[in-house]
Amino acid sequence: MAIILGLESSCDETAAAIVRSDRTILAHALAGQEDHHRAFGGVVPEIAARAHAELMTPLVQAALADAGMTLDDVDAIAATAGPGLIGGVMVGLVTAKALAMAAGKPLIAVNHLEGHALSPRLVDPDLNFPYLLLLVSGGHCQLLRVNGVGDYNRLATTIDDAVGEAFDKTAKILGLGFPGGPAVERAATNGNSAAVPLPRPLKGADEPHFSFAGLKSAVLRAFQSGQYKVDDIAASFQQAVVECLRDRLQYSVDRIDPLPALVVAGGVAANIAIRDMLSEFAAARAMRFVAPPLWLCTDNGAMIAWAGAERFAAGLTDGLDFVARPRWPLDPDAAPARGAGVKA
Ligand code: KG4
Ligand code: ZN
Repeated sequence: MAIILGLESSCDETAAAIVRSDRTILAHALAGQEDHHRAFGGVVPEIAARAHAELMTPLVQAALADAGMTLDDVDAIAATAGPGLIGGVMVGLVTAKALAMAAGKPLIAVNHLEGHALSPRLVDPDLNFPYLLLLVSGGHCQLLRVNGVGDYNRLATTIDDAVGEAFDKTAKILGLGFPGGPAVERAATNGNSAAVPLPRPLKGADEPHFSFAGLKSAVLRAFQSGQYKVDDIAASFQQAVVECLRDRLQYSVDRIDPLPALVVAGGVAANIAIRDMLSEFAAARAMRFVAPPLWLCTDNGAMIAWAGAERFAAGLTDGLDFVARPRWPLDPDAAPARGAGVKA
């Protein structure tokens, strides 16, 4: 059995975890940076990088202490090597390289998106390849066929904003604070989801992709009109997101060979309304629905350690010259989506 230390630092969570290849989480240390960024209403890359640099070493020490281990007991050191805010990514990757070199252990450079994509397998031993994955985070909204470790077909992506980004911007417009996703979800529980007429971008479109920018602009107009309660706008926004995701999922599922499981991952997978919709969608199509526990949906070290464990088992390790990648698509062969630029 292999023991993997995993480091995460691609956005505003600094994390270190130790996971064994039999799916045991031996230690899991995490420090959020919300207080550093709150005054700015969003993550400030330079502040994030500095905080990662301060927090990473103590978190690695804490994880090793929790597991009752030293670096000698670890078989490999994994770190997020992209995509993400490059200053932060470099902190985690350079720390992992230094530890790997000092301890004479292999380095595993993990794609953060693969960390999310494989995380459901950490908690569900019955989840086998292939599966259909909806990856919804602050930077991404993608539908993927997960064929195996390092093997993905991207079926759809967003042509503008990511879902989490839409939640965060909505929260900012509505004055609900930061981080936005959980704040919008809380407000939505007190609101009427039918109160505010909002668009469903690309619903029914004859292409697979997602779009959320127009929805965010509509939220701004609804708010500025002064006609609606904040809770009603939040609830109506969340409902529009749910309907868009369901419609786009339906489009792709109708066009691919059936897959046994529908899996959701990424920070937005913590949203209960979205989880409920996906669970019903899967049940209606005789697919298993797998959603990681909430703590494993948002960024953490365990998902990076687990992706490291999967890669290690497949014989995939990396050289100490591995260069951090601000953009790193899971499916490099996917056709560019209209208007999407170079997301991921
Ligand atoms: O995966 P993640 O932790 O970081 C990225 O890799 O982006 O995702 C963070 C995103 C943020 O946009 C946050 O607002 C959103 O996930 N999020 C949520 C919820 N919890 C976190 N969005 C909707 N509902 C939630 N409960
Ligand atoms: Zn993430």
